[in-house]
Amino acid sequence: MPSLSRRTDTFTESMIRKMTRISLENNAVNLSQGFPDFNPPEALINRMAEVSHENYHQYAITWGSQRMREALAKKQEHFSGMKYDADKNVLVTCGSTEAMMCAMMTVCNPGDKVIVFSPFYENYGADAILTSAKPIYVPLIPPAFNFDVDVLEAAFKQNPKAIILCNPSNPSGKVFTRDELQIIADFAEKYDTFVITDEVYEHIVYQPNKHVYFATLPRMAERTITCSSLSKTYSITGWRLGYIFADEKIIDVAKKVHDFLTVGAAHPLMETVVTALEFDDKYYSDFLAVYQHKKDLFINGLKRLDLSFSDPQGAYYVLVNTDEFKVTNDIKFCEWLAREVGVGAVPGSSFFREDVNNYIRFHFAKNDDTLIEALNRLESLKKKAIAANGNFN
Ligand SMILES: Cc1ncc(COP(=O)(O)O)c(C=O)c1O
Repeated sequence: MPSLSRRTDTFTESMIRKMTRISLENNAVNLSQGFPDFNPPEALINRMAEVSHENYHQYAITWGSQRMREALAKKQEHFSGMKYDADKNVLVTCGSTEAMMCAMMTVCNPGDKVIVFSPFYENYGADAILTSAKPIYVPLIPPAFNFDVDVLEAAFKQNPKAIILCNPSNPSGKVFTRDELQIIADFAEKYDTFVITDEVYEHIVYQPNKHVYFATLPRMAERTITCSSLSKTYSITGWRLGYIFADEKIIDVAKKVHDFLTVGAAHPLMETVVTALEFDDKYYSDFLAVYQHKKDLFINGLKRLDLSFSDPQGAYYVLVNTDEFKVTNDIKFCEWLAREVGVGAVPGSSFFREDVNNYIRFHFAKNDDTLIEALNRLESLKKKAIAANGNFN
């Protein structure tokens, strides 16, 4: 057999999927892979059934069905105040995963540098490798996950093509303040850099924090590639629908990348989600209230168990600090956790570029019963972990 491409040589199995597998093997409550175990809104399911009898079974326009793009532009204007032309500034993709890859391929030539904050959502590393871009990592320093302005500027001085900004952030739960975003914007302008944002958790931001769409900052619209998704906002991670908003010149190139990568997203689903994109404000406040409740339930449980963690400002993840358990290998620790305690988590090292072994990530996008069961099981964690005395094999 001839040799295969070396592109993925440095890829390891996705730690999130590995932990899901280990959770299943051990019958553990799986709080590793971040997806809800509850249904999408009823109206969306009903509309899906109707659409199956309508005539949406063939290819749609490659950059997204007209009605979906129009509904997206309207929704984005409602929440961000930005005016987008549905024909010129919007591209529908197969999830934010494709949107981010498409954005990278749109702006980067092989060898170009991109700034990535660490800890980061694991796909960004793979996106960089697949586009032959070189990441420059800038630490978000726990427990508050702030960045050092001088370190960030030093990264910008290395002539990067783009910075990737995940806001609200997975895994840290950080919601960047307007002042922090303005610092990034000033550097992006000074060093003439694109800003690729991943805003899939835009509607999961806990009071008093506020989501600021990066493109709304002065003069940022022209250099911002806003990526987001319907996966989280409507609890439809399996539908694979995401999108990009950007300047027409950028979207024109992104359309070409998307066309040859996927041709397009699923037509019947694009038609179905128009219903969701037209939901009124009450949907979004109820949706946030559900997550606020889940966060309170889970976080209060962690507090009761006297575990140390960073309270997330947005998204649905929490990083728990494991310093007190003398963890030297957090992968082994998570395997032990699934086996001995019966709860699945993701080792923090899979998100950090730095040598960090003292965090594990749980997600709380689960039914209350699932979260309560996980908390019940975690009651034995402290005792068992201290007894293990650093030996988690
Ligand atoms: C930050 C972030 N971006 C993107 C995704 C994937 O989004 P999609 O389902 O739209 O591809 C996730 C999923 O966990 C995520 O956490």
